Amino acid sequence: MEGGCCRLDVDMGMVIRLGLFGLLALGAMAVEGSAPAPPPLPVMPLPSYRQLRFQRQEQVMFFHFGVNTFAGNEQGDGTDDPSIFNPEGLDARQWVREAKNAGFKVVILTAKHADGFCLWPSAYTNYSVKSSPWKDGKGDVVREVSDAAREEGIEFGLYMSPWDRHEPVYGDTLRYNEYYLGQLRELLTMYGPISQFFVDGNKDPAAVDMRYLFDSWFDTIHQLQPNANIFSDDGPDVRWVGNEAGVAGTTSWSMMNRSLVTIGGPFEDYLNVGDPYGQDWVPPECDVSIRPGWFWHENQQPKTVDSLVDIYFKSIGRNCVMLLNAPPNQTGLLQETDVAMLREFRSTIDHIFSKDMASKSQVSASSTRGGEASPFRTEQVLNDDLEEYWAPEEGVTAAYLTLDLGSNKTFNVIKLQEAVHLGQRVRGYHVDVMQDGEWEVVTMGTTIGYKKLDRFKQVQSQLVRIYIDDARASPLIASVGLYLDTRSGLGCDMNVTNCVS
Ligand SMILES: *[C@@H]1O[C@H](CO)[C@@H](O)[C@H](O)[C@H]1NC(C)=O
Ligand SMILES: *[C@@H]1O[C@H](CO)[C@@H](O)[C@H](O)[C@H]1NC(C)=O
Ligand SMILES: *[C@@H]1O[C@H](CO)[C@@H](O)[C@H](O)[C@H]1NC(C)=O
Ligand SMILES: *[C@@H]1O[C@H](CO)[C@@H](O)[C@H](O)[C@H]1NC(C)=O
Ligand SMILES: *[C@@H]1O[C@H](CO)[C@@H](O)[C@H](O)[C@H]1NC(C)=O
Repeated sequence: MEGGCCRLDVDMGMVIRLGLFGLLALGAMAVEGSAPAPPPLPVMPLPSYRQLRFQRQEQVMFFHFGVNTFAGNEQGDGTDDPSIFNPEGLDARQWVREAKNAGFKVVILTAKHADGFCLWPSAYTNYSVKSSPWKDGKGDVVREVSDAAREEGIEFGLYMSPWDRHEPVYGDTLRYNEYYLGQLRELLTMYGPISQFFVDGNKDPAAVDMRYLFDSWFDTIHQLQPNANIFSDDGPDVRWVGNEAGVAGTTSWSMMNRSLVTIGGPFEDYLNVGDPYGQDWVPPECDVSIRPGWFWHENQQPKTVDSLVDIYFKSIGRNCVMLLNAPPNQTGLLQETDVAMLREFRSTIDHIFSKDMASKSQVSASSTRGGEASPFRTEQVLNDDLEEYWAPEEGVTAAYLTLDLGSNKTFNVIKLQEAVHLGQRVRGYHVDVMQDGEWEVVTMGTTIGYKKLDRFKQVQSQLVRIYIDDARASPLIASVGLYLDTRSGLGCDMNVTNCVS
């Protein structure tokens, strides 16, 4: 994943530095000797550069923080007195450090929730940090978190609620959209690069005439922050996964038809699964809170490590990005209970994936595009580079890869990844292992996408065969890995039928 991520960045840099003539020269070098088979045609639609970066980030952390933290609300009504906001020990570096140590690549802050209280000193309202006792009204939480993220080398994102229960012009479409866009411009110009902008469809049911001018918001975001992925129910860059449990569909397409969905509408099932015929590339993001609420409340406990790891498998392991909320407390710190779970979550994931039983295998295939000396040779599934992949012969949509692990290995998790920069293709697959001279199915599924992780009963075997049973076009497999989750009593020790994750 790291390799793939950096490759993408370097390549873009190279494109800019070399320019067209440099690229032509590189191309000429490559064709000296015998010409390699060119890559297969992409299958539309394709991810944009920023969407590929998003997908490879895998883990994004949400920080819900504001007057609700002090009032004990999940959704304040906009009347809480700013004087209650006083996080005397606020240390955004602690938030960001714990996020980074737990593997998160981006942090998103609730700059404004539906109560309307702004965590930055907006010029357009006094309902903000500047009317609070915190730092005598001179504080700016957006500044502190964005600075901390930059110092720790991770990316920064923002949420600004469309519904504003404090602002008097809310309900007047013209004036409120002007207000929202004014605040948007503050957030997008004062705090450096924004990696993701998160918006929901939350709306006052009584404000029947209130319309959000999403198109002008989204174009403004892309104009001011071209690398920012915009999350809303239907994208444009990242879609909601249809629930707040952090669970993607077992079938999970990165495509959908944006025209079929309106923000805030009842489209949960469609968003959860995506659409194999979708015209728009809008991968899902799986939002979930580490606590029962989105905001910190006294006496609530964080989820267990096993439950967080389960979410990891059901989000990142199903072609989704995991967006985990960890709410800072009234002191302005992540609670030690939550920090402990985040650290243990990371060490458990690292432990499961520390040893890839497939890493030294001999790989063969039913066929290989351009033969085994081509750029699409089978061993490409063993390196970390997601832009290098095995491809079967032109036009073949059902094919298999065989891994000889060298000796018996014990495992109960498989990782499969497609080369999604050329489109998401696989519609059906199954995995067999050799047991006493017979092939036995250990897992089966539909989509793979950026990453699929399947858990199954623990097996011991030397030979593994991955069948791609059906695909929209030639399957392009970028990565395969086999792992052992040793947590006792967990993982899956059931039979094949009820073990398909
Ligand atoms: C904020 O409060 C100051 C001081 O009372 C006032 O002058 C200013 O007009 C207020 N601004 C807004 C946007 O309400
Ligand atoms: C999405 O759009 C494509 C192209 O118009 C269409 O074939 C497909 O049926 C649409 N999906 C749904 C669920 O309507
Ligand atoms: C917030 O968390 C920190 C770190 O665990 C702790 O020291 C502090 O007492 C907590 N604040 C509240 C109000 O619980
Ligand atoms: C490999 O594992 C299989 C299945 O558990 C077992 O039957 C076989 O004896 C093992 N082979 C060796 C060489 O250990
Ligand atoms: C798997 O377990 C289920 C439920 O116990 C059972 O009904 C089914 O027959 C089993 N399947 C196999 C292949 O053993």
